[in-house]
Amino acid sequence: MAREDSPQTPTALSERLSATRKLTLDLAAPLSDADAAIQPFPDASPAKWHLAHTTWFFETFVLRDHVPDYRLFDERWAYLFNSYYEGEGERHARPRRGMLSRPSLDEVRTYRAHVDEALECALPALPPEALELIELGINHEQQHQELFLTDILATFAENPLEPAYGELPTPPCTATEPLSWHRGREGAAEIGASDDGFAFDSERPRHPVILAPHEIANRRVTNGEWREFIADGGYATPTLWLSDGWAWVQQEGISAPLYWRDDASEFTLGGRCSIDWAAPVAQISYFEADAFARWASARLPTEAEWEDFAASADPMIGNQLDGAGAVVPQPGGGLFGDVWEWTMSAFSPYPGFAPADGTVGEYNGKFMCGQLVLKGASCATPRGHSRASYRNFFPPAARWQFTGLRLARDA
Ligand SMILES: [Fe+2]
Repeated sequence: MAREDSPQTPTALSERLSATRKLTLDLAAPLSDADAAIQPFPDASPAKWHLAHTTWFFETFVLRDHVPDYRLFDERWAYLFNSYYEGEGERHARPRRGMLSRPSLDEVRTYRAHVDEALECALPALPPEALELIELGINHEQQHQELFLTDILATFAENPLEPAYGELPTPPCTATEPLSWHRGREGAAEIGASDDGFAFDSERPRHPVILAPHEIANRRVTNGEWREFIADGGYATPTLWLSDGWAWVQQEGISAPLYWRDDASEFTLGGRCSIDWAAPVAQISYFEADAFARWASARLPTEAEWEDFAASADPMIGNQLDGAGAVVPQPGGGLFGDVWEWTMSAFSPYPGFAPADGTVGEYNGKFMCGQLVLKGASCATPRGHSRASYRNFFPPAARWQFTGLRLARDA
C-alpha cells in the first residue's frame, strides 16, 4: 500500500484513475457481447467479468466503505463479481463465470460509468486511507488489464476460425543477441520495496539477503532456442523434468509452448502468425522453464539474483502496454517487457511481512503457497505498473500468461 508520505496528489490520482478506467474500456472495444462472455478455462475469466470485477473493487472498498450516502448500483452484483474475498462473503463459483450471459456487456459498461462518476465526485473529500485504496484499485485494475488480454487470447485460441483481437505492431528487425553471462553480486544484498511510493504488501519489507556466487544471462531464452530443445527430445526426456512436471507433461500431452501450431506458426492476439525465432519464448509453464534450464546445463535465477541484477534497470522501458491493441513479445528486449521471467523462488512472505489492513489483506498473503515468483513485466503489462521488487506469481503448471525465462548458473 502507498505510504502517507506518498507524493501523489488527489488531482494526479484522479487523472491516473480515469486513464486506467478508460484503458480497460478501450481494451474491450473490439469485443462483442458474446466474445466478452466466454470463459475458456476455469483459471481464466470472461472479459466482461474483468470489467465488472475491477469496478466492484472500487465500489466496495472505496465507495461503500468511505462514502456515507453512496448507494450500490445493484446489491446482487457483489455475489457475481467478488473474486476471492472471504471477508466479503459468498460468491459465484470461479469456474462458472462463463455462465453469466446477464448482465450484458452494455449493462456492465453502465455499471462502470456509475462507479466512475461516484468516484470522481467523492475523491476530493476522501480520507488518506481511501486514497490509498484508490491507488490499490488502480494497480489492481492494471493487473486485470493484463489478464484481460491473456484471457481473450485464450478465448480466441479456442475458435477454429482463429480470430484476431487486433493488428500486431510491426516487429523490429533485430537479430538474436549472442548469449553472454553477467557475474552477479556475491554476498550481502537487499531486496524488496522501500517504504516510498506504492508497492503491494507482498513486496515489503525490504530486507537483507545473501547471494551465492552466480552468473545470469544477458537476455531471455528465444523461440529459436526452444525449437532446439524440442528437436533434442526435451519434452520426451524424463530426466530433464521435475517429478510433478513430468507427470503434467504426460497427463496433458504437452509438447510445445501453449500457442505453437504446426508449420512454425503460433496463435497470437493478431491471429495465427509465423513464429519469430529471435523473440523470447512465451506461454511456457514453470515446469517447462525448469526443464529447459536443466537441458541447457543451467538453472532459473532466484528472485534475489534477478532483483539485484535488475536494480539499476529502468522499469519504464521495453515492450509493454501503452494503449489498447494487440501485443506480442518482440526480439531484443531488456529486463522489463515482452515476457515475465520465471524464477525458482517460492512466493512466500518476506521476513516481517504484514498483510494490508482490512479485507484487502486477502489480496496477496493467502496465496503464499504452491506458487512461483515471476519478475519483470510483459508486453501486456501496463507501462509503469511493474518495478524490480514486483512479485508476480503463478502455480507451476500455469502457461497462458506471457511467461518466459532467463537462464542463470552457479559460479
Ligand atoms: Fe481482482
